[in-house]
Amino acid sequence: MNPMPAPRHTKETLNPAAGVPRPLTLAQRSNLLYPTAWGYAAWRARSLTWLTGQPFSLEREAALFTVLCRPRPGQRWLDAGTSTGFYAGVLTQAGCEVVAADLSAPMLAAARRRVRAPGVDWLLTNLEASGLPDASFDGVTVGAALNETRDPARLLAELERVLRPGGTLWLMYLARTGGPLQAALSRPALGGLTFPDPAWVARQLPGCVRTHGLRLGAAVFERYGRGE
Ligand SMILES: C[S@@+](CC[C@H](N)C(=O)[O-])C[C@H]1O[C@@H](n2cnc3c(N)ncnc32)[C@H](O)[C@@H]1O
Repeated sequence: MNPMPAPRHTKETLNPAAGVPRPLTLAQRSNLLYPTAWGYAAWRARSLTWLTGQPFSLEREAALFTVLCRPRPGQRWLDAGTSTGFYAGVLTQAGCEVVAADLSAPMLAAARRRVRAPGVDWLLTNLEASGLPDASFDGVTVGAALNETRDPARLLAELERVLRPGGTLWLMYLARTGGPLQAALSRPALGGLTFPDPAWVARQLPGCVRTHGLRLGAAVFERYGRGE
């Protein structure tokens, strides 16, 4: 019997495992290790400079997010895949209430040490099936969790579901380049990462409209607004 052809989206996302209900990707499992969590903030501070090929500090990323998404005091935001809490910290400085969620307990422990501001609920969950209520957030930030999650279509559907009408979705991810390194890292044994096309991401968010997009190298920054 011929094997089932790979669905179109796996080609577009360069992740042959996407859409297959299986355990965590290797990249996700690597985040369950304490050494990964200890080293993550140092990597994060430099990663966008390496990945965009130009100076790109965390301050610049925070400014880009703040200008485009305008988080306001009293708003309730979800930081999806918070790791060591970068976006959670930016949001608390803007006066927001934040649910900072991650499936890695070591990452959440590191985040709690880094971001000591009140107004953050740290939540250990897999956001592909979190059970968070519908339309319960004014905004959602996703800093690169899309690249690591097992099923990015499912994650995006879930994040759209929890966003209220009129709410804001901020995505930062590495988009598909078609290069050999991405092809290797997308193999399950080498990470199981996903590198989505921006057009594919947009199709997973039928209730949202992309209002802003910036691509620097492989790094993509996008703001979506949820339809009223
Ligand atoms: C590249 S790191 C994200 C860093 C962080 N958002 C930032 O901007 O610095 C990806 C994080 O997402 C988490 N993650 C991946 N898939 C997830 C899922 N399905 N549910 C919850 N967290 C997830 C990982 O544990 C990891 O901490």
